[in-house]
Amino acid sequence: MHWSERRILLTGASGGIGRALALALARRGARLLLAGRKPTALQALADELPVPAEWRAVDLCDTDARQRLVEAARELDIDMLINAAGVNHFGLFDAQPPESVSEMIALNVTATLQLTQAMLPLLKADDEAWIVNLGSTFGAIGYPGYASYCASKAALRGFSQALRRELADTRVHVHYVAPRATRTAMNDVTVDTLNAELGNAMDSPEQVADAVLRAVEQRAVERHLGWPERLFVRLNAVVPGVVDRALRRQLATIQRFAGRA
Ligand SMILES: NC(=O)c1ccc[n+]([C@@H]2O[C@H](COP(=O)([O-])OP(=O)(O)OC[C@H]3O[C@@H](n4cnc5c(N)ncnc54)[C@H](OP(=O)(O)O)[C@@H]3O)[C@@H](O)[C@H]2O)c1
Repeated sequence: MHWSERRILLTGASGGIGRALALALARRGARLLLAGRKPTALQALADELPVPAEWRAVDLCDTDARQRLVEAARELDIDMLINAAGVNHFGLFDAQPPESVSEMIALNVTATLQLTQAMLPLLKADDEAWIVNLGSTFGAIGYPGYASYCASKAALRGFSQALRRELADTRVHVHYVAPRATRTAMNDVTVDTLNAELGNAMDSPEQVADAVLRAVEQRAVERHLGWPERLFVRLNAVVPGVVDRALRRQLATIQRFAGRA
């Protein structure tokens, strides 16, 4: 992979993993179009990068704003789309406000799919192009306390697999990279403490960014990050009852923390 030849639209650039990805890509000389909602955070990030970068502040759930972003991508002849924007909500499903369920599906699924769809003509017109979707371990393992997030990332995983197969006779590569828990603002102190109590390891955003770039370089179509998470993803696919029993033992702890969330 010649990163210095890539022109990349990165959503979620103002977030923890997005920022680490922007820095890693810029260090390799890639040209970036950064997308997020906060103009000040995007400008600060662009100022920090070793190469000039463009940015657009857009709410991806807004159809017109998304269209303007696609226009900017066309002007820069973008050949890689990294879908890193996402929202999460920790708490028991029966206590999750309905609008929070809607927001999660609207961004993690609908807006992500529709941005990808709008970008496809541009990507297909390139000699070679890439779509990289940031999923989650929870896209492959239904986990108590994250029911709608798991639903949204499972949808993204299924979408990535289907689109990859649909584009198999083109030069557009589709990658799905699923991080485990990562130390970003997405997880508040309650979630960090819960992870510590359950013994769930957390990666740094820089580790995740490196792993995403490696997955693309190695043409890994679907990659799950972390050990033993990778093992549990396999176990859950083959013998879900084993994972049911392991998570049943964690349930009281998760319920206790969900009460504080
Ligand atoms: N952190 C983890 O534990 C973890 C684990 C596995 C997978 N992931 C996935 O990795 C990706 C990045 O997560 P992160 O930890 O970096 O999250 P983060 O720090 O909370 O950043 C989220 C990003 O999404 C953007 N965003 C949120 N709503 C948006 C909207 N309506 N329109 C446009 N942009 C919007 C935010 O922009 P503003 O800041 O401008 O609002 C921000 O740039 C997500 O897809 C997440 O699901 C995270």
